[in-house]
Amino acid sequence: MAEPHDQDFMLAYQDSCAGLTLLLIHGFPLNSNLWEPQMDDLRDVARVLAPDLRGHGLSDQGDEPYTMQLMAGDCLALLQAVGVQEPVVLCGHSMGGYVAFEFYRRYPEWVAAMILVATRAAPDSAEGRQGRDRMAQRARQDGVPAIVDDMLPRLLSPDNYENDHELVAYVRDMIESASLNGIVGSLQAMKERADSRPLLAEIDVPILIICGEDDQLIPVSEAEEMRDALPNAELALISGAGHLPNLEQPLEFNELLWDFLESLREEEEG
Ligand code: MLT
Repeated sequence: MAEPHDQDFMLAYQDSCAGLTLLLIHGFPLNSNLWEPQMDDLRDVARVLAPDLRGHGLSDQGDEPYTMQLMAGDCLALLQAVGVQEPVVLCGHSMGGYVAFEFYRRYPEWVAAMILVATRAAPDSAEGRQGRDRMAQRARQDGVPAIVDDMLPRLLSPDNYENDHELVAYVRDMIESASLNGIVGSLQAMKERADSRPLLAEIDVPILIICGEDDQLIPVSEAEEMRDALPNAELALISGAGHLPNLEQPLEFNELLWDFLESLREEEEG
């Protein structure tokens, strides 16, 4: 039988490093496994944290209606729960980028820098909103597997989808582990998210934007528009990658993050 916890008991733990915290927020309908190559390679240069957003991966689904505010609040709660006290480097992939914008809107004092991966600042168009409703309806009717079939071919570059069977299976597993509530709730949250374009001029922290050249979901032009509207941003395009450049070209992606984190560290050290 387990003994009750002793308040004086000291629990030892290891932490990857005492430097900057890198918070990696995955896109829809994935989970923190999206960031496996980054967790492996960057743990020596930053404290890397990657939550499963609610309803995805191993996280609870919760009872409340999903919103970007709720998901941004979950991310802050995680930082606080693990004792982070300094502003973090916020890295959002696609829907995770929408969460990152909301996080900045609500908690700018927590953001030291941002990495925006395959994401956009604009809200959904009328047509996009109808598409969300159709996908949610399909998920309710036919279940999560129907979403896998819809999403998978569009997430990777056509070449990677055709030829990289291991990667396709890896992404499939992630989507299959999302709950129906996670999928439907996130679709609603994305549909109702705020327009972040007016926010861009105010975000004065250093920003790295990364985009796969063959992204079928969010075109490169949206990344260019964000770069032009942000006061302190650079854009890196990755060839041979679609919507998941960090998985499709992990070496190149990690090198970009490595250099960006290094430049932040140099800036901090003056
Ligand atoms: C994502 O990858 O997170 C989503 O596809 C983004 C979106 O649908 O707007």
